[in-house]
Amino acid sequence: MTRTVYLNGEYLSETEAKVSIFDRAFLMADGVYEVTSVLGGKLIDFGGHLKRLERSLNELDMKKPAAFDDLLEIHRKLVELNGIDEGLIYLQVTRGAPGDRDFAFPDPETTEPTLVLFTQNKPGLADNPTAKKGIKVISIDDIRWGRRDIKTVQLLYPSMGKMMAKKAGADDAWMVEDGFVTEGTSNNAYIVKDGKIITRNLSTDILHGITRAAVLKFAREAQMIVEERPFTVDEAKDADEAFFTSASAFVMPVVEIDGTAIGGGSVGQVATRLREIYLEESIKAGV
Ligand code: PDD
Repeated sequence: MTRTVYLNGEYLSETEAKVSIFDRAFLMADGVYEVTSVLGGKLIDFGGHLKRLERSLNELDMKKPAAFDDLLEIHRKLVELNGIDEGLIYLQVTRGAPGDRDFAFPDPETTEPTLVLFTQNKPGLADNPTAKKGIKVISIDDIRWGRRDIKTVQLLYPSMGKMMAKKAGADDAWMVEDGFVTEGTSNNAYIVKDGKIITRNLSTDILHGITRAAVLKFAREAQMIVEERPFTVDEAKDADEAFFTSASAFVMPVVEIDGTAIGGGSVGQVATRLREIYLEESIKAGV
């Protein structure tokens, strides 16, 4: 079945939606994005994703797409038109297509941003069996640019990281800078040691995960201790548990890093509990 997607004010078949070869995202990776999950036909953490989108646009001095205020309605309409019960909505805003290639930003008065949204149908997303057995990660150098807090479409290195993991027989990679884990290729990283949940503090070094913010709030509400600080790969190897969070995987246990089993190689209680709480609370709050 072909999807109905959204492009610059129109709902079109995915086969008909076309973007210019001069689009700044195509030529310069000059675009930002958000991924919002859908559970039970409802948008999860939508307010947070919208706020971060606004921040990304501001940080890059990028014009808001004309339909910015209508984004909730567009998301909802795509869910409805594509019959999504569980899945993802991808949204991308680019600096538009000025009609030629030039390093300088185009005049926002004459070049409109490009706004694209599409759905990904993922039945069984919440009940993912992988969450019961956990995943394996490898560590790799973090060689990305220094503004990882902006959610840009520059995803070549994260893609390469996933391929390095695959080649090594693992599922994902955690990136390391100056001896400390920054984050996963497309998620925020955590360890649990002596009952404490440890995750890197927010800065320009990592993406400020929307799932991270919700999970840490729920953890604190459940009287769990949270320590926001960088941790090393050796600390991860020695941890009682590890996990990651993202809008597409929620809370996902990590049971191995660089071939060393974490917490005896089985999924931990803290990650399991946080996944349950996150799913329960965010489905309740879905819009
Ligand atoms: N990735 N860190 C990075 C580098 C990410 O790409 C993501 C999300 C996260 C988690 O953020 P959030 O909880 O807001 O999803 C952290 C999305 C899911 C993606 O690129 O598909």
